[in-house]
Amino acid sequence: MLGPVLLAAARSDRMRGLVTSVPLTRRVVDRFVAGEDLDAAVRAVRELTGGGLRVTLDHLGEYTRERAQAEATRDAYLAMFEVFAEQGLAAGADASVKLSALGQALPGDLALDNAREICAAAARAGMTVTLDMEDHTTVDSTLEVLGKLRADFPWAGVAIQAMLRRTEGDLRDLAHEGSRVRLVKGAYAEPASVAFDGKAEIDRAYVRGLRVLMAGDGYPMVGSHDPRLIDIARTLAVVNDRSAGSYEFQMLYGIRAGEQRRLAQDHRMRVYVPYGSDWYGYFMRRLAERPANLVFFLRSFVSR
Ligand code: FDA
Repeated sequence: MLGPVLLAAARSDRMRGLVTSVPLTRRVVDRFVAGEDLDAAVRAVRELTGGGLRVTLDHLGEYTRERAQAEATRDAYLAMFEVFAEQGLAAGADASVKLSALGQALPGDLALDNAREICAAAARAGMTVTLDMEDHTTVDSTLEVLGKLRADFPWAGVAIQAMLRRTEGDLRDLAHEGSRVRLVKGAYAEPASVAFDGKAEIDRAYVRGLRVLMAGDGYPMVGSHDPRLIDIARTLAVVNDRSAGSYEFQMLYGIRAGEQRRLAQDHRMRVYVPYGSDWYGYFMRRLAERPANLVFFLRSFVSR
């Protein structure tokens, strides 16, 4: 019951004002977000890569309504690529990008143009880019942008959400050579007309998606912390004769960190590292995924 309420709150400006104005919130946010600036992200990345983990960097922000803000997000990615190249952190690193932060809801091709600049700068630094997937109304436009980006940057990847009913078809279209696809369960509140409901149904859809990706010719990125699904992914990799470097696991910063290090011993394991000051929407989705996080959050107010 709490999940949908928290996901609705994730889009509420009033709740945003309330939650972000409380200084104590930071202590809990720090568990999921590397920090507010690039220096903090660099520190987190050094620690993770030192432990044998790969990274994908998310400069936080979403649902931008102004051109200037979309361009500022683009510039933040460009600055990150430069610093990563300078500091020797770029090799094997990836950037995760939300098109809604680059102007997807604004008229014209602003998001595509910004994403193109991001991909070009990533290529210069020796990094790759993966498009995050947001609520279901953005899927067609995100896949269209991906198609256009791939003409120049064939390594551009995308996240696909198992919970959406359309997903099996999308995965079949995407399971071709060179295609990098991150399969996730889906973190947005969606109507039953477009999405499966309840853990069991979404997990079954996730397994169907894994089957398509592991049997296909692309590069599957298994984005989940769910131990059962991780085991199934490993089995499917073996069944489909996949070598260790032909797929990878991905988890979010601060979630099951011990398991991240353990998996990294014999698999490619990438950590999604969010940073920046606009952490509210991301943070609320993490609370919604696990009610225990909310208890932890509320407890921080009484245990000062
Ligand atoms: P599930 O939610 O069933 O969790 C399994 C176990 O993992 C839990 O029992 C718990 O131990 C742990 N866990 C999971 N979430 C936790 C949390 N918040 N706090 C503490 N423990 C937690 N979604 C989306 O819609 N678009 C996107 O682009 C992305 N991108 C993305 C990238 C990467 C690398 C990952 C791992 C995930 C995403 N997601 C996403 C989020 C995804 O859709 C999903 O909401 C979360 O991964 C939680 O689902 P799990 O598969 O982990 O399973």
